[in-house]
Amino acid sequence: MTLAHPNRRNILFGAAALAATASFPVLAASPNQMHVLKDPSCGCCGSWVKTMKIAGFDVSVENVPNETLYQHKQRSGITEDLASCHTATIDGYLIEGHVPAADVKRLLETRPDALGLAVPGMPYGAPGMGPEDEREAYDVILFRADGSTEIFARYAAA
Ligand code: CU
Ligand code: CU
Repeated sequence: MTLAHPNRRNILFGAAALAATASFPVLAASPNQMHVLKDPSCGCCGSWVKTMKIAGFDVSVENVPNETLYQHKQRSGITEDLASCHTATIDGYLIEGHVPAADVKRLLETRPDALGLAVPGMPYGAPGMGPEDEREAYDVILFRADGSTEIFARYAAA
């Protein structure tokens, strides 16, 4: 927590400075900036972060105790049946678990009225969860503030 604070402040400070000097409307600091909350000992979380960086997202990571992470999920509207390991935010959306980069990009392009995307649990072969050519079937779920959900993308078993 203590290590992460200066980072977050820098980001906020940078955004504020940009807003003060920009002569054009600032479109959400940068739609590319992703912030990830994860447990310090979570290996698959780190692997997923790598896939997001490779896909071009500007990712900052905040290691928090599991308890804090759990409370953050609850407060954010991520129910137990949606929950996974890490919780990310990008451009006003939540990204829960091992969501593929392509789906995050489509979310940001289409901007549906929703809280975000989730890949519940930790399906084998999802990004950061082992080889894709051995993946099990999983869905990417779009979830809304009213509790409703829909399937945003389906990934068949390899
Ligand atoms: Cu994971
Ligand atoms: Cu994770």
